[in-house]
Amino acid sequence: ARQIIIDTDPGQDDAVAILLALACPDALEVLGITCVAGNVPLEMTTRNALIICELAGKANVLVHAGCDRPLGRDLVTAEHVHGRSGLDGPNLPAPIMPLQERHAVDFVIDTLRERPAKSVTLVPIGPLTNIATAFKSAPDIIGKVQEIVLMGGAHFAQGNVTPVAEFNIHVDPQAAEIVFGAGVPLVMVPLDVTHKALVTRARNAALRAIGTPVGRAVADLTGFFERYNPERYGEDGAPLHDPCTIAWLLKPELFKGRRVNVMIETQSELTMGMTVTDWWGNTGRPPNATFIHDIDTEGFFDLLIERLARL
Ligand code: BDR
Ligand code: CA
Repeated sequence: ARQIIIDTDPGQDDAVAILLALACPDALEVLGITCVAGNVPLEMTTRNALIICELAGKANVLVHAGCDRPLGRDLVTAEHVHGRSGLDGPNLPAPIMPLQERHAVDFVIDTLRERPAKSVTLVPIGPLTNIATAFKSAPDIIGKVQEIVLMGGAHFAQGNVTPVAEFNIHVDPQAAEIVFGAGVPLVMVPLDVTHKALVTRARNAALRAIGTPVGRAVADLTGFFERYNPERYGEDGAPLHDPCTIAWLLKPELFKGRRVNVMIETQSELTMGMTVTDWWGNTGRPPNATFIHDIDTEGFFDLLIERLARL
């Protein structure tokens, strides 16, 4: 199985990503979950990660709390999307499994140092503060990362926090700049693709029809999320952003990508956090990312439902 660390700020869609990964131990070994401030403050993203591991019946997963604020800016949260808890929707019990004592950044550093080079994949699905902090304080680990598969950014799809910036990148652009500039093989799953993974009413019903506690919780999670989106974007259901990263790891043939150069805007307040994507190769800068731009939506939801049913 491919060894991964999920770096996350749950978040309903983060929660579904975690569940999908934990449902596939044959393909993915989750070495740990590292939490970061993002959708809601750190205390709640950490609590939510624990809640989700317990829902999955995997109370042995190592969950770590990480950075509670971006590198150089005030934290911007998204309660208007995710609710006050970050996990509004289902009624899930308070977690009893333990939080690890080690800081998330130390866990990332230690894990990459201990394991063979190029054997660990990082899957950041929140702001990139933890990963950038690890790279800054332990540059020796950068060359040991197998791959980074992250949710973030936008090109043709435009932003979802500002006209040009996607939330995860916008919250901590300095961190994103470090990660995109690190020279690690990087796959980015931007809004261009996640806005094609919409939880329609029919798909929400199909998730509920799994008939298990996990299926019902995922239907409640995505149902809450859905309330927010249609009036804003006029779409039929909310984008299920973060699980697309896990689906890419499980079945890359569901996606199409393009090697491009991506730079992060960190200067202008107007375009802060924009992923400046050289789609046509205008700059001559070498590609540093595989930009995922298309998805087999039906295949994605079939995979999601089939795998979640295993929990
Ligand atoms: C990203 O921001 C968060 O709200 C979601 O969890 C996702 O990671 C989408 O822009
Ligand atoms: Ca997220």
